[in-house]
Amino acid sequence: MSDAADRNTTQPSLQSRVIDKNRELDNKGLLRKRVKVILDTEHANCFEVDDLPYINFSSNDYLGLSRSANVIDALHKGAQDYGVGGTSSPLVTGYNQAHQQLEQVLCQATGHEAALLFCSGFSANNALMKSLFNDNDTVLADKLVHASVIDGLQESGAVIKRFLHNDLASANTHFERHAPCALLTESVFSMDGDIAPLAELSALCRQYNAWLIVDDAHGFGIIGDKGLGASTLAGDIHIDAQIVTFGKALGGQGAAILGSRELIDYLVANARHYIYSTALSPAMACAVCAAVEAIIERPSLNEQLQQNIDCFIEACKTKDITLTGSTTAIQPIIIGDSARTLAIAKRLKEHGFWVGAIRPPTVTQGSARLRITITAEHCAEDINAFVAVLADILQDD
Ligand SMILES: Cc1ncc(COP(=O)(O)O)c(C=O)c1O
Repeated sequence: MSDAADRNTTQPSLQSRVIDKNRELDNKGLLRKRVKVILDTEHANCFEVDDLPYINFSSNDYLGLSRSANVIDALHKGAQDYGVGGTSSPLVTGYNQAHQQLEQVLCQATGHEAALLFCSGFSANNALMKSLFNDNDTVLADKLVHASVIDGLQESGAVIKRFLHNDLASANTHFERHAPCALLTESVFSMDGDIAPLAELSALCRQYNAWLIVDDAHGFGIIGDKGLGASTLAGDIHIDAQIVTFGKALGGQGAAILGSRELIDYLVANARHYIYSTALSPAMACAVCAAVEAIIERPSLNEQLQQNIDCFIEACKTKDITLTGSTTAIQPIIIGDSARTLAIAKRLKEHGFWVGAIRPPTVTQGSARLRITITAEHCAEDINAFVAVLADILQDD
């Protein structure tokens, strides 16, 4: 046996390593598991788990576009015309007319000069942070920005400062003390549903000569002029880089980074997630184009969503359920204790309603919550029935 092999006799097997790690997580109540969902082919918000039917109040398909006939047709046609797969890296031959068209559609919708497509929002955020920053930089991020931003920043080596969530005074203090080169925020926060004060943050960035980077994952399709996201909100907002993800209101998969032509040229040459990965499916690019068109041409989708959000808020008010003040599709109910949150979600399931029980480390300690999402596909009857059951459970609790 070689020396190296000899040394390795003390190495635990892969099996024993993962079993130990799983046990550790399980003991802390943090072992995550999947459920297999059997989708209802007729109704977007209905599915079965273990033969029991549920109405889904946890989907990010806020406008129901993942089942829209136009989007599905565009996916079919895109697959027929250009194929299902990306076939190679965009830097080889994986960048084609379907991708270029989606980039143009997104630029027109947001007002940015150029765009770059990624296979997921996680990789877009991660790539942007890692390619843009290095260990000479200090960056300032809202306390609640997404894991993909934090991971990318950590990998970049930049010094990370966090300001209190949506708190301008806190951001200002950090600017004065640390002179960060960039400020990072979400437009609509994924676990809270509240909206960042983007006009004010933009003014701060201008004052301190810093770049504003906005993750618009839960904003595009929902906020702004015609629902076209953060850059179209009222006010004087200059966003240097905006991330639009396709897996939420657009009902698809993938993401884009939008910004100046020079930023996109830089990312093409430096973003490893872009360079060393198969291009986004061209069929998906066509589907996302159709989804953006639907947002522009069918304002009734957003109106229906807003009506359903209002219906939910009103029903909660009638039943004395405390909400957070969010006006978007994400409506958290803060429970605090993780075990209690899980127990409430379990009881909701017993009544046929599926809601995410979000616990630390996804949210901060002591702020476990039900993350309720409302979509344009819900009907008033389902929303009222859900709130009635929720009120009973919260009262008994
Ligand atoms: C705020 C935010 N940014 C980025 C992402 C990642 O997007 P994707 O699901 O496309 O990887 C998510 C998804 O959970 C998110 O909530």
